[in-house]
Amino acid sequence: MCGIVGYIGDKPVADILLNGLSQLEYRGYDSAGVAVQTGTKINVYKAEGKLENLSSVLMQHKGEFAQSTLGIGHIRWATHGAPNVINAHPHTCNCGNLVIVHNGIIENYKELKEELEKNGAKFKSQTDTEAVAHLIAYQYEKTKDLTEAVRIATSKVDGAYALCIMHNDEKDKLIATKRNAPLLVGVGENEYFVASDVPAIIPYTKRAMYLNDNQIVTLTRTNMTLIDKDGNELPQKVEVLPWEPVALSKMGYKHFMLKEIHEQPDIIRNILVGKLRSAETPIELDEVKLNKDTLKNLNRIQIIACGTSLHAAMIGKYIIEDFCGIAVDVEASSEYIYRKTVTDEHTLVIGVSQSGETADTLTAIKQAKAKGSHILIITNRPDSAMAREADSLIPVNAGIEVSVAATKSYIAQLVSFYLLAFYMAEIKNSMNSAELQALKSEMMLVPQKIEQILSHKETIQKCAQHYANTKDFIYVARGINYPTALEGALKLKEISYINATGYPAGELKHGPIAMLDDSMPVLSILMKGSVYEKILSNSEEAKARNARMIALTNSKDEKLKDLFEFIIEVPEIQEYLSPLIAMIPLQLIAYYIAEYLGKDVDQPRNLAKSVTVE
Ligand code: G6P
Repeated sequence: MCGIVGYIGDKPVADILLNGLSQLEYRGYDSAGVAVQTGTKINVYKAEGKLENLSSVLMQHKGEFAQSTLGIGHIRWATHGAPNVINAHPHTCNCGNLVIVHNGIIENYKELKEELEKNGAKFKSQTDTEAVAHLIAYQYEKTKDLTEAVRIATSKVDGAYALCIMHNDEKDKLIATKRNAPLLVGVGENEYFVASDVPAIIPYTKRAMYLNDNQIVTLTRTNMTLIDKDGNELPQKVEVLPWEPVALSKMGYKHFMLKEIHEQPDIIRNILVGKLRSAETPIELDEVKLNKDTLKNLNRIQIIACGTSLHAAMIGKYIIEDFCGIAVDVEASSEYIYRKTVTDEHTLVIGVSQSGETADTLTAIKQAKAKGSHILIITNRPDSAMAREADSLIPVNAGIEVSVAATKSYIAQLVSFYLLAFYMAEIKNSMNSAELQALKSEMMLVPQKIEQILSHKETIQKCAQHYANTKDFIYVARGINYPTALEGALKLKEISYINATGYPAGELKHGPIAMLDDSMPVLSILMKGSVYEKILSNSEEAKARNARMIALTNSKDEKLKDLFEFIIEVPEIQEYLSPLIAMIPLQLIAYYIAEYLGKDVDQPRNLAKSVTVE
């Protein structure tokens, strides 16, 4: 992960770097640092922890760089080396004349380090990045040309990187390059910006160039030169970004997560506009570019994703198989990429990702693309690397999600899967049309039902507080809501650090039941439908072992009162659509427990929103 920024121009650089980094905090917050050219030398400032710590350091030293107009910055999610000041970027060569910031992982850093140490390099940190700083500096001593030194050095590097580099002997120059990590250059008037992601540059310019792998860009205040790995000059494709600067605000909510949970009804409404017009009208999904005959004959789909997106994918599998009769495999991208998968030109491969940048998923879809599969991407970032690989692109349009724990992007991914499944079922004529119409009709009511839950969230808050001091938490469900149980447990783990696990309720007796006693909360997702009675029996089994039983249900069944010590009621909903409703209280339970425990809800420890390392 990590986020990098760079600036060369005529404006004071420190504020631009800090603002940029604040937009990239979703990429990590273990430490932050900047390097600025002061005219005589390059000064480096670093701080452990969140960006506000670096801001304080810079405030104390602001007299030292008031005139600086060239610099680079970094926000870290630690991979190699503990999150402390020494390991914080920027990293330097022995003499401090060369500084670099890096996002990615240098896989051969140990070999490079050994070699460089023989040539006199003195390593100060435990990072993989420092090897690249010494390597470029070594090449610079030979070539006295920074671009050439970067070109030769990066040809010796294995792994993933986005790098921004400056040198005290080339005071009007900033270099950036990348391989398997995102990077773009913002183009202003006599100024250039480098960043891992659009929000860092959009307040200053909408004109930008995305770098491709192994390209190296050299920026002066007035000029930009782009070369490939062999040093050949390349044409520059500057585009206008379809983005408006957005002031990210909590809108009165205590945390972004709570605000984002409340945005969900409107997000669903927006997704449905123009796609689901009425129960009787066919779904319009022009985003799917596979022709209808191919879709009719399709008999294999693979869905690849990570984290919360993987849980959305599991529900996607359930409904596509049920509605369309197409076999669907779902796999974590990090597993998919390291085995021989049976993927070919007859397989539709769906990549699901909030960020569109997750390294494992990006690698997985590139592998599938190389095998000739049609690639359909469901993402919240239509400008992302995954979107650029897509043959078909379904943007979920959830808006920027700031909270590291995904909520609204998950619900938006689910709605996109429902639309896709309805669309394919209509093309294949694979579903009873009255049943399909009933589902489409009820889908239009989902936003309202979520609003009902949100307007009665005090019961959920009370429930959360009641169980906040537990050390463990179990979520059980069956069928279509099994992934809901997994996602509910993931939300709780992520932001409260409680050891939460989701199980298929029927599996409880095959092991996990041994953990139950009167200290263990077990939350049963009991939505009316095909498996209701079965989950009820599984809940009885848990109750018989004295577990603290909680029901999340749309049933008014009186007998639930004897079985459960806490009942969270949600509106009636057709079973197939129930994951959209059941997830909302689970998001709120996780939120209120974490808030009650005083945890850092929006930026939980050890996590990052966008994981650009495999
Ligand atoms: C990280 C985030 C998770 C997210 C996962 C996949 O681990 O912390 O919230 O679900 O990456 O991210 P993606 O952007 O591909 O959905």
